[in-house]
Amino acid sequence: MTERITPASRLRGRMRLPGDKSISHRYAMLGAIAEGTTLIRNYAINADCNSTLECLHGLGVPSAHEGNELTIGGYGLEEPVGLLDAGNSGSTIRMLSGILAAQPFTTRITGDESLSRRPMERIMRPLEAMGASIRAREGRYPPLEIRGGKLHPIDYTLPVASAQVKTCVLFAGLYAEGVTTVRQPVPTRDHTELAVREFGADIEVREGVIAVRGPARLRARELEVPGDLSAAAFFLVAALLVEGSELVLEQVGLNPTRAALLDFLTGMGADIRIPRLAQRAGELVGDLVVRHSRVRGGLIEKALAAALIDEIPVLAVLGAASEQGLTVRDAAELRVKETDRIATLAENLQRMGVAIEVHPDGFHVSGGQRFHAAELDSFGDHRIAMAAAVAALAADGESTVSGAEAAAVSYPDFFRALAGLRS
Ligand code: S3P
Repeated sequence: MTERITPASRLRGRMRLPGDKSISHRYAMLGAIAEGTTLIRNYAINADCNSTLECLHGLGVPSAHEGNELTIGGYGLEEPVGLLDAGNSGSTIRMLSGILAAQPFTTRITGDESLSRRPMERIMRPLEAMGASIRAREGRYPPLEIRGGKLHPIDYTLPVASAQVKTCVLFAGLYAEGVTTVRQPVPTRDHTELAVREFGADIEVREGVIAVRGPARLRARELEVPGDLSAAAFFLVAALLVEGSELVLEQVGLNPTRAALLDFLTGMGADIRIPRLAQRAGELVGDLVVRHSRVRGGLIEKALAAALIDEIPVLAVLGAASEQGLTVRDAAELRVKETDRIATLAENLQRMGVAIEVHPDGFHVSGGQRFHAAELDSFGDHRIAMAAAVAALAADGESTVSGAEAAAVSYPDFFRALAGLRS
């Protein structure tokens, strides 16, 4: 599907973002293994979170949707009959593997073409150290064959800054007898720590060291998923770029381990305010009011690169329009996302006549550049599709984004929501 996008004169309005993708995966998986039926309000309805539900369904976990309200679990897991399919979702395969490694059966789990090229040894190593036996294509790619069993706790230092890997080990730790410890050299999103505590497990977090005690007895909960800040990022940048814009984004998740985005943007001079803040199930939630602003530009490196990893494609667009440009370093992880995001975002910017200097672990885009209308491509990557659409709003004519359906991986309604803000 190709979307046509004309330059926007201004963006105005109030909107609700879909439920947070990261939190939805975690609540569904924990709901699946907890005692009793869990109710999740504002569950993210998108291809990735559906992949989690389908895999859980394959494991005998019932779930039912009523709008975006989901009920799930209550009966434990069963040995799957066939191959589980995680689709495009790295979170599904990596986080669920932690649970599968502890089951008294063997599970085979695969994914689409993109997921089948993404590295899995990062979860295989710790799970094997806990006693699971895992086979993978070429020793590192899906499909995975996970022979589960009794696990023992480990003390594990994350070699990559990855919340998916952290979650995988902590989920496995829920089953191991004793204390499983995960040490993270760089902070990553802490939705798992908060959710596991909400479901009743004994978990302690101190200065980058997380300790969970197993076997944990999880109890069903009623929870509400906040709006997705990573989805909000596209609208924040769109409003900052397009003159005369003002948007109110309601009920967005503002967990401090994700909200580095807001500090980064306001640090560059963005006019973003948070009039109200509340806490739900340990997660901070608030409305965001954003107005068009001239931004200075900035540097993303070290811990900030991990904190902003999903937002970098759209921040590159803002960087090109900023006064001083944007430099990104220490972000080689971008190369093993749904696409090699350094390559795909650079390709789209270059098609628009934007100069970008690419490095193995990042890029530099100088400021004050203009976007020329162009034929852009999602390359099958949801965040690349949405970042391209935002750049197109600021172009000098009509652009197209082909493969736009990729947005449905995290945000099926994205193009309609964007169109609805034009005035
Ligand atoms: C996620 C963690 C990040 C992020 C992904 C979601 C999560 O991946 O890019 O979109 O929900 O834990 P890594 O853990 O691979 O960095």
